[in-house]
Amino acid sequence: MRRLVVIAATALGLVAVLSQGPVSANGRPPAVQDQSLKALAARHNLVIGTAISNDALAEPQYKAIATQQFSSVTHENAMKWESLEPTRGTYNWAPADALIDFARKNNQKVRGHVLVWHNQLPTWLTEGVANGTISKTELRDLLKKHITTVVKRYKGKIWHWDVVNEAASDPWDTPSEIHLKGFWAQNLGPTYIADAFRWARAADPHALLFYNDYNMEAFGDRGPSDKVWFIYNLIKNLRAQGVPIDGFGSQGHLGTQYGNFDAFQVKETLDAFSDLGMVSAFTEVDVRSQMTAGVQAGDTNEINPRLQASAHNFSVLLQACLLNRHCLSYTVWGFTDKHSWVPTWFTNPPEGLATLYDENYQPKRAYNSIKSDLIFAGPPHVQPRPRR
Ligand code: G3I
Repeated sequence: MRRLVVIAATALGLVAVLSQGPVSANGRPPAVQDQSLKALAARHNLVIGTAISNDALAEPQYKAIATQQFSSVTHENAMKWESLEPTRGTYNWAPADALIDFARKNNQKVRGHVLVWHNQLPTWLTEGVANGTISKTELRDLLKKHITTVVKRYKGKIWHWDVVNEAASDPWDTPSEIHLKGFWAQNLGPTYIADAFRWARAADPHALLFYNDYNMEAFGDRGPSDKVWFIYNLIKNLRAQGVPIDGFGSQGHLGTQYGNFDAFQVKETLDAFSDLGMVSAFTEVDVRSQMTAGVQAGDTNEINPRLQASAHNFSVLLQACLLNRHCLSYTVWGFTDKHSWVPTWFTNPPEGLATLYDENYQPKRAYNSIKSDLIFAGPPHVQPRPRR
């Protein structure tokens, strides 16, 4: 009996050592804080991803971090319709294919982004609809062809597809009651959502199909201007009709100037969707800050609280994800301030400092915060995700 106990204890110890990841040059496992995000997340069976800019991937430092730290990648722009089919009928697959190959070589999953969105559509499509040379019937056929062509091409290579992205209005729109808006709703009516998911499922039965949106962190008052409540009910109703929506993607674009949420509020939202039988993911996390004159001049009194608040918000989303076993992945929307959409998008007032690494590829407080979340989390409240 005692021998059995010793054998079991030795085996457990071995498993514990092996699960710490690779052994360093001195023969000892690396210190826990030196392990990668993806290695630390593997213990929870959680996938840690990043959006990838094809241009940036040419930089050795960018490429090294993308490879070493992340277990999934998302094309930041290369899989959008304007990138794939800039001229009607002529596809430009090479940039999208390149990241698929990169992921395969590095044993990374791919989140496919994005099939149906009102932005970054080819001008031949939007102009054709505007000038009447593309009819509504033809538009629906073109959408079906687009989804079918793209999903079939990458069949078996995409883990999650963002099938429909940002379909709903925001409370600051007019009217403030949340409603379906944008190019697709205007031209095809609300049925395009169910159609898109059905066409995607038919083209690849095994990819998990996501609805993806921003400002999805927490329920509000569950009234007509609550966007999360609107999306929750939309998805609930579509699933009740048999529409194959498997996943809820919460983008996670936050700003330190806003109130934001705590981990339990965010978990409550993930729980509501998993209670519908769905999986979830954080798909585009970043936490930007206003770049005041002081920040730009290097005033640490202004910079430090921003870095701290950013780290806290990255952490809140990750903690909520860890607390819900159906939250499968946590993807950041770029990992370095050197290549972030934020400074080019938010210019008045200027915003930035939104990612895990600074412009010189040095990890910031946010990087260490999410790393420590991965280290400190475990049973009984954090259980590994079931394999999907
Ligand atoms: O490709 C052209 C290039 O030819 C041209 O010279 C250059 C000059 O501005 O623009 C280039 O296109 C830019 C494109 O990114 C590729 O770099 C666009 O101007 C720019 O608007 C575009 O921004 C992207 C944005 O989506 C557009 O909607 C961001 O990189 C990308 O990070 C962002 O990603 C979205 C997600 O897909 C959905 N959720 C929100 C998220 C942030 O907006």
